[in-house]
Amino acid sequence: MNTRRFYTPGAFYLMEEHSLRRILSDIPLGGLRYFEQTGSTNDVALAWAAEGAPDLALVCAEEQTSGRGRSDRRWFTPPGTALAFSLVLRPLPGEEQSVTLFSGLGAMAVCQALEMRELHPEIKWPNDVLLNHCKVCGILAETVWMGERVDCIVLGIGVNVKPEAVPPSDLLNFPSTSIEAEIGKRVDRLNLLRDILQALLYWRGLLARDDFLNAWEKHLAFRGEQVEIRTEEDLARIAKVEGLERDGSLRLSSYDGQVFMVQFGEVHLRPVL
Ligand code: BTN
Repeated sequence: MNTRRFYTPGAFYLMEEHSLRRILSDIPLGGLRYFEQTGSTNDVALAWAAEGAPDLALVCAEEQTSGRGRSDRRWFTPPGTALAFSLVLRPLPGEEQSVTLFSGLGAMAVCQALEMRELHPEIKWPNDVLLNHCKVCGILAETVWMGERVDCIVLGIGVNVKPEAVPPSDLLNFPSTSIEAEIGKRVDRLNLLRDILQALLYWRGLLARDDFLNAWEKHLAFRGEQVEIRTEEDLARIAKVEGLERDGSLRLSSYDGQVFMVQFGEVHLRPVL
């Protein structure tokens, strides 16, 4: 049932830092920095990482004034309407081979938290979460290198909770929605954040196993369908989505049955209408 029509957006409640700290107290964070307003939580987390932030250091903001998306796009976070947070992930021993899976890890964590709310999310590769074919969450994974080695990944996650978090359509590059518009009732943002972080810890423990990749693949949007793949150089190609490779790259097949992979990077994918 499409509940969107029956939902009337209501008042905004701002997060309270002490409630945030209390609800996350069971999660083994490497630290928590909360801002009523900041430029971008990814920028704050990158600066903190440079000062030595530990694994699972979390930066959370009620409002971002210069939130960033992929390909230098802007990301809107008006106060009281969304989740905007960034986690510093330092590869644990044995995780070095799995860092290419970290953005999928964020997407899977959001999916699991949405499924707990009876929703049916999909992942538009590499890491946008969709509800009803519309984007509800964007993820920006930024890697900090130390020579040849990954020092850390800052995983920034933005979730549209209320309809007011969705920017006007002329500013969107993909149709978007919010959780409350889809579910037709209020959603507690702090509970949602806790559920996302708990799911992230759960899936992180399974990254090296097939279970994680299978779960990600099961959530893959447009699987078996034709999509347009567009690279930064604006080269467009039509292909069918086949599945995922072990390193998280996307496996596709062209019209003549030739199978090819797309690695992470500035690649955009959209359905062929
Ligand atoms: C995208 O869809 O292009 C990615 C959007 C990522 C937005 C989040 S919100 C928290 C974090 N801080 C940012 O500036 N960006 C990410």
